[in-house]
Amino acid sequence: MTTVLYPGSFDPIHLGHLDVVAQAVELFGTVVVATMHNPSKPSGAFTLDERLRMIDDAVAPLRAAGGEVRVASFAGLAIDAAREFEVDFIVKGLRTSGDFEVEQQMAHTNHAVSGVRTVYVPCRPDLSYISSRFIREIAHYGGDVAAMVPPNVVPFLQRTRPSA
Ligand code: PNS
Repeated sequence: MTTVLYPGSFDPIHLGHLDVVAQAVELFGTVVVATMHNPSKPSGAFTLDERLRMIDDAVAPLRAAGGEVRVASFAGLAIDAAREFEVDFIVKGLRTSGDFEVEQQMAHTNHAVSGVRTVYVPCRPDLSYISSRFIREIAHYGGDVAAMVPPNVVPFLQRTRPSA
């Protein structure tokens, strides 16, 4: 059985992320979803603990269907998380060529310094427009984000509104 690490900001987790988790379960077996800090995105909306709670609830249906999904928060490098959770490799979702540019550089860097390899999973085309950043922006101004996030995430986003 293969175990993979799916690291990300997940600020918050959305339906595109969940689809990558589902694909990774199907393709590899066990998936460790780890929420981490992205140093290039310092202004996160949610704490790692809040993100962890959102992820945990969001993956419940996958677990109920028999999927081996573990969740964690990790302060540090993705390669250290890969070592700690004893995974075989890292999985990343790709939406666009822009994602590819960034991910390819990270994948090569992570491999160069640790030997840990990264495998890409293509995001489902109908979900590939979704981004946590735009979800946060829309929710902040009271917009409806229900089409983009799992139901358990909606109340978390409502609490980020200025009037909430
Ligand atoms: O969802 P994101 O923001 O695209 O995820 C990026 C993330 C958190 C996976 C990336 O920033 C990361 O790996 N952060 C941990 C720090 C690290 O390992 N840096 C070295 C990158 S080569």
